[in-house]
Amino acid sequence: MEVFERVARAAVGEASAMLLATWREAKTIQHKGPVDIVTETDRAVESAVLARLTRAFPDHLMVAEESSSSETLAHPPQDRHVWYLDPLDGTTNFAHAYPHFAVSLALSRGPDPLFAIVHDPIRDETFVAERGCGATLNDDPITVSPIRELDDALLATGFPYDRREHLDSYLGFFADLVRRAQGVRRNGSAALDLCYVACGRLDAFWEWKLRPWDTAAGALIVQESLGLVSDFRGGPFDPFGPQTLASNGHLHDAMVAVLTGRLETTLVRI
Ligand code: IPD
Ligand code: CA
Ligand code: CA
Repeated sequence: MEVFERVARAAVGEASAMLLATWREAKTIQHKGPVDIVTETDRAVESAVLARLTRAFPDHLMVAEESSSSETLAHPPQDRHVWYLDPLDGTTNFAHAYPHFAVSLALSRGPDPLFAIVHDPIRDETFVAERGCGATLNDDPITVSPIRELDDALLATGFPYDRREHLDSYLGFFADLVRRAQGVRRNGSAALDLCYVACGRLDAFWEWKLRPWDTAAGALIVQESLGLVSDFRGGPFDPFGPQTLASNGHLHDAMVAVLTGRLETTLVRI
Protein backbone atom coordinates (compact mmCIF):
# COMPACT_ATOMS: atom_id res chain seq x y z
CA MET A 1 0.00 0.00 0.00
CA GLU A 2 2.93 2.35 0.68
CA VAL A 3 3.74 2.82 -2.99
CA PHE A 4 0.06 3.50 -3.83
CA GLU A 5 -0.15 6.07 -1.05
CA ARG A 6 3.12 7.76 -2.02
CA VAL A 7 2.08 8.17 -5.67
CA ALA A 8 -1.48 9.24 -4.72
CA ARG A 9 -0.20 11.89 -2.30
CA ALA A 10 2.19 13.24 -4.93
CA ALA A 11 -0.56 13.33 -7.58
CA VAL A 12 -2.98 15.09 -5.25
CA GLY A 13 -0.24 17.55 -4.25
CA GLU A 14 0.30 18.47 -7.90
CA ALA A 15 -3.47 18.83 -8.41
CA SER A 16 -3.74 21.03 -5.34
CA ALA A 17 -0.99 23.36 -6.59
CA MET A 18 -2.79 23.71 -9.94
CA LEU A 19 -6.11 24.51 -8.24
CA LEU A 20 -4.51 27.03 -5.87
CA ALA A 21 -2.78 28.77 -8.78
CA THR A 22 -6.02 29.33 -10.69
CA TRP A 23 -8.98 29.50 -8.29
CA ARG A 24 -9.12 33.30 -8.07
CA GLU A 25 -8.80 33.81 -11.84
CA ALA A 26 -11.63 34.21 -14.36
CA LYS A 27 -12.51 30.78 -15.78
CA THR A 28 -13.31 29.51 -19.25
CA ILE A 29 -16.50 27.54 -18.69
CA GLN A 30 -18.16 24.94 -20.88
CA HIS A 31 -21.60 23.44 -20.28
CA LYS A 32 -21.96 19.64 -20.07
CA GLY A 33 -25.70 20.11 -19.36
CA PRO A 34 -28.04 22.97 -18.37
CA VAL A 35 -26.41 23.42 -14.93
CA ASP A 36 -23.40 21.06 -15.20
CA ILE A 37 -20.22 22.95 -16.05
CA VAL A 38 -16.56 22.15 -16.58
CA THR A 39 -13.56 24.49 -16.54
CA GLU A 40 -10.20 24.17 -18.27
CA THR A 41 -8.74 23.47 -14.85
CA ASP A 42 -10.93 20.38 -14.30
CA ARG A 43 -9.46 18.93 -17.49
CA ALA A 44 -5.88 20.04 -16.87
CA VAL A 45 -5.85 18.63 -13.33
CA GLU A 46 -7.40 15.37 -14.49
CA SER A 47 -4.74 14.97 -17.24
CA ALA A 48 -1.90 15.67 -14.82
CA VAL A 49 -3.14 13.21 -12.18
CA LEU A 50 -3.91 10.48 -14.72
CA ALA A 51 -0.51 10.90 -16.37
CA ARG A 52 1.22 10.42 -13.03
CA LEU A 53 -0.90 7.40 -12.04
CA THR A 54 -0.54 5.76 -15.46
CA ARG A 55 3.23 6.24 -15.41
CA ALA A 56 3.47 4.59 -12.00
CA PHE A 57 0.84 1.87 -12.55
CA PRO A 58 0.50 1.13 -16.28
CA ASP A 59 -1.74 -1.92 -15.71
CA HIS A 60 -4.26 -0.09 -13.48
CA LEU A 61 -7.59 1.16 -14.84
CA MET A 62 -8.56 4.85 -14.46
CA VAL A 63 -12.14 6.01 -13.93
CA ALA A 64 -12.15 9.80 -14.01
CA GLU A 65 -14.99 12.29 -14.34
CA GLU A 66 -13.93 14.12 -17.49
CA SER A 67 -12.58 11.19 -19.51
CA SER A 68 -14.31 7.92 -18.61
CA SER A 69 -16.54 6.14 -21.07
CA SER A 70 -19.96 4.92 -19.99
CA GLU A 71 -18.74 1.44 -21.02
CA THR A 72 -16.09 1.50 -18.26
CA LEU A 73 -18.62 2.78 -15.78
CA ALA A 74 -21.22 0.16 -16.57
CA HIS A 75 -18.74 -2.69 -16.09
CA PRO A 76 -16.26 -1.97 -13.30
CA PRO A 77 -13.73 -4.85 -13.48
CA GLN A 78 -13.36 -6.93 -10.34
CA ASP A 79 -9.90 -8.33 -11.05
CA ARG A 80 -7.89 -5.14 -11.62
CA HIS A 81 -6.83 -2.16 -9.57
CA VAL A 82 -9.07 0.79 -10.43
CA TRP A 83 -8.45 4.45 -9.53
CA TYR A 84 -11.52 6.70 -9.16
CA LEU A 85 -10.63 10.36 -9.69
CA ASP A 86 -12.62 13.55 -9.35
CA PRO A 87 -9.98 16.16 -10.21
CA LEU A 88 -12.17 18.98 -8.93
CA ASP A 89 -15.17 18.21 -6.76
CA GLY A 90 -17.01 21.49 -6.37
CA THR A 91 -16.58 22.87 -9.88
CA THR A 92 -19.41 25.38 -9.48
CA ASN A 93 -17.78 26.75 -6.30
CA PHE A 94 -14.39 26.87 -8.06
CA ALA A 95 -15.84 28.66 -11.10
CA HIS A 96 -17.17 31.39 -8.77
CA ALA A 97 -13.99 31.55 -6.64
CA TYR A 98 -16.07 30.29 -3.71
CA PRO A 99 -13.43 28.68 -1.50
CA HIS A 100 -14.74 25.14 -1.04
CA PHE A 101 -13.64 22.37 -3.40
CA ALA A 102 -11.41 19.28 -3.36
CA VAL A 103 -9.49 16.62 -5.25
CA SER A 104 -10.84 13.12 -4.60
CA LEU A 105 -8.95 9.91 -5.40
CA ALA A 106 -9.62 6.29 -4.41
CA LEU A 107 -8.05 2.96 -5.29
CA SER A 108 -10.18 -0.20 -5.43
CA ARG A 109 -9.77 -3.82 -6.32
CA GLY A 110 -13.07 -5.65 -6.37
CA PRO A 111 -16.09 -4.00 -4.77
CA ASP A 112 -14.35 -2.33 -1.82
CA PRO A 113 -11.97 0.65 -1.96
CA LEU A 114 -8.54 -0.07 -0.49
CA PHE A 115 -7.20 3.46 -0.15
CA ALA A 116 -8.72 6.95 -0.30
CA ILE A 117 -7.45 10.51 -0.25
CA VAL A 118 -9.42 13.77 -0.41
CA HIS A 119 -7.56 17.08 -0.32
CA ASP A 120 -8.97 20.57 0.26
CA PRO A 121 -6.38 22.99 -1.21
CA ILE A 122 -7.87 26.11 0.44
CA ARG A 123 -7.68 24.82 4.01
CA ASP A 124 -4.69 22.56 3.27
CA GLU A 125 -6.60 19.62 4.74
CA THR A 126 -5.84 16.06 3.63
CA PHE A 127 -8.21 13.24 4.57
CA VAL A 128 -6.77 9.74 4.09
CA ALA A 129 -8.08 6.24 4.79
CA GLU A 130 -6.75 2.76 4.26
CA ARG A 131 -9.16 -0.17 4.54
CA GLY A 132 -8.89 -1.67 8.02
CA CYS A 133 -6.41 0.96 9.25
CA GLY A 134 -8.62 3.95 10.17
CA ALA A 135 -8.75 7.46 8.75
CA THR A 136 -6.77 10.63 9.34
CA LEU A 137 -6.99 14.38 8.79
CA ASN A 138 -3.52 15.85 8.25
CA ASP A 139 -2.13 12.63 9.77
CA ASP A 140 -4.19 12.84 12.99
CA PRO A 141 -6.76 10.05 13.53
CA ILE A 142 -10.38 11.13 13.06
CA THR A 143 -13.72 9.74 14.16
CA VAL A 144 -17.39 10.57 13.61
CA SER A 145 -19.46 12.75 15.97
CA PRO A 146 -21.26 11.39 19.06
CA ILE A 147 -24.60 13.12 18.19
CA ARG A 148 -27.55 10.76 18.74
CA GLU A 149 -30.67 12.82 17.97
CA LEU A 150 -31.71 14.38 14.66
CA ASP A 151 -32.88 17.41 16.68
CA ASP A 152 -29.21 18.07 17.53
CA ALA A 153 -27.75 17.14 14.15
CA LEU A 154 -26.05 19.24 11.48
CA LEU A 155 -26.69 17.62 8.09
CA ALA A 156 -25.59 18.31 4.52
CA THR A 157 -26.93 17.48 1.11
CA GLY A 158 -26.60 18.47 -2.55
CA PHE A 159 -28.84 18.58 -5.59
CA PRO A 160 -28.03 16.56 -8.71
CA TYR A 161 -27.55 18.10 -12.12
CA ASP A 162 -31.03 16.99 -13.28
CA ARG A 163 -32.57 19.14 -10.52
CA ARG A 164 -34.56 21.32 -12.91
CA GLU A 165 -36.44 18.20 -14.00
CA HIS A 166 -37.04 16.70 -10.53
CA LEU A 167 -36.79 19.68 -8.21
CA ASP A 168 -40.05 19.10 -6.32
CA SER A 169 -39.07 15.52 -5.53
CA TYR A 170 -35.60 16.52 -4.27
CA LEU A 171 -37.11 19.36 -2.23
CA GLY A 172 -39.45 16.86 -0.55
CA PHE A 173 -36.45 15.05 1.03
CA PHE A 174 -34.85 18.40 1.85
CA ALA A 175 -38.03 19.70 3.54
CA ASP A 176 -38.41 16.58 5.69
CA LEU A 177 -34.84 16.85 6.97
CA VAL A 178 -34.86 20.64 7.41
CA ARG A 179 -37.93 20.08 9.59
CA ARG A 180 -36.21 17.40 11.70
CA ALA A 181 -32.56 18.53 12.02
CA GLN A 182 -30.79 21.39 13.80
CA GLY A 183 -29.46 22.57 10.43
CA VAL A 184 -28.90 21.48 6.83
CA ARG A 185 -25.99 22.75 4.71
CA ARG A 186 -25.49 22.68 0.93
CA ASN A 187 -21.75 23.11 0.59
CA GLY A 188 -21.18 22.11 -3.05
CA SER A 189 -18.57 19.35 -2.67
CA ALA A 190 -19.87 15.88 -1.95
CA ALA A 191 -16.36 14.54 -1.35
CA LEU A 192 -15.81 17.12 1.42
CA ASP A 193 -19.33 16.56 2.80
CA LEU A 194 -18.40 12.89 3.30
CA CYS A 195 -15.07 13.82 4.91
CA TYR A 196 -16.88 16.26 7.21
CA VAL A 197 -19.14 13.41 8.38
CA ALA A 198 -15.97 11.36 8.94
CA CYS A 199 -14.34 13.97 11.18
CA GLY A 200 -17.50 14.97 13.06
CA ARG A 201 -18.12 18.43 11.55
CA LEU A 202 -21.33 17.03 10.06
CA ASP A 203 -23.48 14.30 11.58
CA ALA A 204 -25.03 12.94 8.36
CA PHE A 205 -25.17 13.56 4.60
CA TRP A 206 -27.53 12.39 1.86
CA GLU A 207 -27.61 13.00 -1.87
CA TRP A 208 -29.17 11.56 -5.02
CA LYS A 209 -27.24 10.48 -8.12
CA LEU A 210 -23.64 10.98 -7.12
CA ARG A 211 -21.06 9.20 -9.25
CA PRO A 212 -18.26 6.83 -8.15
CA TRP A 213 -15.61 9.57 -8.50
CA ASP A 214 -17.64 11.74 -6.07
CA THR A 215 -18.09 9.07 -3.40
CA ALA A 216 -15.49 6.25 -3.66
CA ALA A 217 -12.89 8.06 -1.55
CA GLY A 218 -15.24 9.80 0.91
CA ALA A 219 -17.24 6.63 1.59
CA LEU A 220 -14.13 4.71 2.69
CA ILE A 221 -13.03 7.68 4.82
CA VAL A 222 -16.45 7.66 6.58
CA GLN A 223 -16.35 3.88 7.15
CA GLU A 224 -12.81 4.01 8.50
CA SER A 225 -13.90 6.78 10.89
CA LEU A 226 -16.52 4.37 12.28
CA GLY A 227 -19.43 5.94 10.40
CA LEU A 228 -21.92 4.17 8.13
CA VAL A 229 -22.60 4.52 4.41
CA SER A 230 -25.65 2.97 2.74
CA ASP A 231 -28.48 3.63 0.32
CA PHE A 232 -31.54 5.55 1.60
CA ARG A 233 -33.22 2.39 2.89
CA GLY A 234 -30.14 1.31 4.85
CA GLY A 235 -29.11 -1.30 2.25
CA PRO A 236 -25.52 -1.74 1.03
CA PHE A 237 -23.89 1.34 -0.45
CA ASP A 238 -23.19 1.08 -4.18
CA PRO A 239 -20.98 3.88 -5.60
CA PHE A 240 -22.61 3.15 -8.99
CA GLY A 241 -26.12 3.37 -7.50
CA PRO A 242 -28.37 6.44 -7.20
CA GLN A 243 -28.44 7.04 -3.41
CA THR A 244 -25.75 7.98 -0.90
CA LEU A 245 -26.48 8.19 2.83
CA ALA A 246 -23.57 8.65 5.24
CA SER A 247 -23.84 9.18 8.97
CA ASN A 248 -22.06 8.91 12.27
CA GLY A 249 -23.86 5.57 12.75
CA HIS A 250 -25.94 6.74 15.74
CA LEU A 251 -28.25 8.68 13.40
CA HIS A 252 -28.42 6.11 10.64
CA ASP A 253 -31.76 4.54 11.57
CA ALA A 254 -33.37 7.96 12.05
CA MET A 255 -32.08 9.14 8.65
CA VAL A 256 -33.26 5.92 6.98
CA ALA A 257 -36.72 6.35 8.56
CA VAL A 258 -37.10 9.90 7.18
CA LEU A 259 -35.69 9.07 3.73
CA THR A 260 -37.72 5.86 3.41
CA GLY A 261 -40.87 7.70 4.45
CA ARG A 262 -40.30 10.24 1.69
CA LEU A 263 -39.39 7.54 -0.88
CA GLU A 264 -42.76 5.96 -0.23
CA THR A 265 -44.68 9.18 -0.89
CA THR A 266 -42.56 10.29 -3.89
CA LEU A 267 -44.70 9.26 -6.81
CA VAL A 268 -42.50 10.61 -9.62
CA ARG A 269 -39.61 8.29 -10.50
CA ILE A 270 -36.29 10.10 -9.92
C1 IPD B 1 -20.67 17.91 -7.65
C2 IPD B 1 -20.46 18.27 -6.20
C3 IPD B 1 -21.77 18.75 -5.58
C4 IPD B 1 -22.87 17.75 -5.75
C5 IPD B 1 -23.03 17.36 -7.21
C6 IPD B 1 -21.70 16.84 -7.74
P1 IPD B 1 -18.64 18.34 -9.35
O1 IPD B 1 -19.47 17.46 -8.24
O2 IPD B 1 -19.99 17.17 -5.48
O3 IPD B 1 -21.63 18.98 -4.20
O4 IPD B 1 -24.07 18.29 -5.25
O5 IPD B 1 -24.03 16.37 -7.28
O6 IPD B 1 -21.84 16.41 -9.07
O7 IPD B 1 -19.49 18.40 -10.58
O8 IPD B 1 -18.38 19.66 -8.75
O9 IPD B 1 -17.41 17.50 -9.53
CA1 CA C 1 -17.86 15.65 -8.21
CA1 CA D 1 -15.65 17.22 -10.76
